[in-house]
Amino acid sequence: MNVLIINASPRKTGVTSALLSEIETAIDPEHSVEAVRIYGLRIKPCIGCLKCRPDKACALPDDDAHLLARKIKEANVLVIGSPVYWGNIPGPLKTFFDRNVTLFEYAEAKSMNYVPTPQLKGKKAFLVITSGSPFPYNLLPSQSGGTARALKTVLRAGGVRIVKTLKVPDSYNFPAKKQKYLENARKIARSI
Ligand SMILES: Cc1cc2nc3c(=O)[nH]c(=O)nc-3n(C[C@H](O)[C@H](O)[C@H](O)COP(=O)(O)O)c2cc1C
Repeated sequence: MNVLIINASPRKTGVTSALLSEIETAIDPEHSVEAVRIYGLRIKPCIGCLKCRPDKACALPDDDAHLLARKIKEANVLVIGSPVYWGNIPGPLKTFFDRNVTLFEYAEAKSMNYVPTPQLKGKKAFLVITSGSPFPYNLLPSQSGGTARALKTVLRAGGVRIVKTLKVPDSYNFPAKKQKYLENARKIARSI
């Protein structure tokens, strides 16, 4: 299977990166694995023209939004790691999603009277969400609950099945509970 790991943290040595690299290392070598850092990509913001509806290419010049969309199409499994930013996902990941509406769903018309068709059925996703807030506050909709909702909104629109969401609280004290969360990360790798 093709596994694509998407890291939405800007910090190469942060908590999200530590968990994602643990997953990457522990994935069975029979799978093909690629890891992408969202902050290493150049993606212009969506201009809201909706020329992409129903299934046309984005009107903006080719950039890494197209490149990552191709990688997602080729993947069977997505592992998305995101820190909680204001109870949401970091801006560059949101910018990528905005640029790729038609990667996820097909809609007949621009009007609101349509039923979009998911475009990524058959793919599975695992989510890793890290937050500064400690347990159980991290689970609130204003904390990692909001980040999970943002990711699930987009993935479910695409028909992607979310297998597991690992929510890691209290990232400022990560070293104290590191081993436990790295084991949780390895469990994700083993279930791919
Ligand atoms: C701009 C910004 C906004 C943040 N907002 C929240 C928040 O709403 N809730 C929270 O629990 N932590 C918040 N944090 C803390 C991060 O989610 C937390 O430190 C995370 O684990 C960082 O991941 P990293 O080490 O992979 O960079 C915020 C951090 C930044 C930089």
